[in-house]
Amino acid sequence: MSLPDQVRTNQDLESIVDTTDEWIRSRTGIRERRIASEDESTYTLALEASKQALETAKLSPEDVEMIIVATLTPDFGFPAVSNLLQDALDASDAAAVDINSACTGFLSGLALADGLIVSGHLDNVLLVGAETMSRVVDWSDRATCVLFGDAAGAAVLQKSDSGGGILKSVLGSDGSGAMSLYLRGGGSRYQANAHTIANGDHFLKMDGREVYRFAVKAMVDCTIDTARRAGVPLDEFDLFIPHQANIRIINSAIRELDVPESKFFVNVDRYGNTSAASIPVALCEAIDEGRIEPGSKVMMVAFGAGLAWAGTALEWTAPVPDRGVVGAGLSARERLGVLPS
Ligand code: ACO
Repeated sequence: MSLPDQVRTNQDLESIVDTTDEWIRSRTGIRERRIASEDESTYTLALEASKQALETAKLSPEDVEMIIVATLTPDFGFPAVSNLLQDALDASDAAAVDINSACTGFLSGLALADGLIVSGHLDNVLLVGAETMSRVVDWSDRATCVLFGDAAGAAVLQKSDSGGGILKSVLGSDGSGAMSLYLRGGGSRYQANAHTIANGDHFLKMDGREVYRFAVKAMVDCTIDTARRAGVPLDEFDLFIPHQANIRIINSAIRELDVPESKFFVNVDRYGNTSAASIPVALCEAIDEGRIEPGSKVMMVAFGAGLAWAGTALEWTAPVPDRGVVGAGLSARERLGVLPS
């Protein structure tokens, strides 16, 4: 995982918009979030996380056959972030694909990578969830700017005959809610111009209450559906990793699912909502904290723009990675020099 060094606390936000630490904590559970510096982007965060993932998996970049990056905040309209990564990593045999399914992006990528591996097309996939949400939020809109943060998380997926692994992926969408959470400008409908800029169309817009209502139901229904299709009773899961958007959404899901709170991994207080990076960062921290061991059954569930939902039931069969030696960070050249201007 990779996080910008810069921490923006709720107190910092009090001097930017009309808000309070108390309001943000009580409505969302967020205390602080990480914000990318000028020489960081989705690509630099993704690159650092990817290097850690490859090092941890002891996989050489030449053996990566596909790089999938899930992001709604790519560096450019095109080329894809995955193309930039493929070059920077010297992953000469890797195909490169970006997917944009917002907060469900990492789990969508997991389902696609799993399908490609299980069908025999690929043996090794590098999957990244990376976002710089700070670049698409309106820092004068208190209803949204307090919610999001920047981060990246990466995983290596490999073919295995040992059983377990990804037991079931469930992906779903209700596009009738598409305009509850959107970024309008800069695409083919509202091409960027002085008018769209003046209108703030390059910023994320959200109907918070609508998304909240959807989120609680989606988290609960998707968790139950994924467990059922995986053939694993809910109480046999050792760990639940929900999309980290709002502690109230997570707590509602805990109550409705009637699962012990201690089985839910939560880090939304420190990072806010990092969209496609939320689940892989939480997974990484859960591993570091010793909450996953060989044989652990893990349920990951996300919801987000689309509107969309995703669930993954997995049984961790690989040795638990020791990330103690990784995380040296990017060189100055990689942070600044590689960024095409
Ligand atoms: N500080 C102080 N007051 C605020 C703030 C703030 N930061 N933001 C909004 N308010 C005010 C509003 O203006 C409103 O005031 P009013 O009653 O005078 O009009 C009041 O607080 C209540 O606003 P609501 O929007 O009703 O507050 P709510 O309790 O619904 O909480 C929140 C808002 C936290 C956004 C909640 O709706 C939520 O979490 N929604 C889900 C968001 C989410 O999970 N998004 C995921 C996106 S995933 C992806 O794909 C990117």
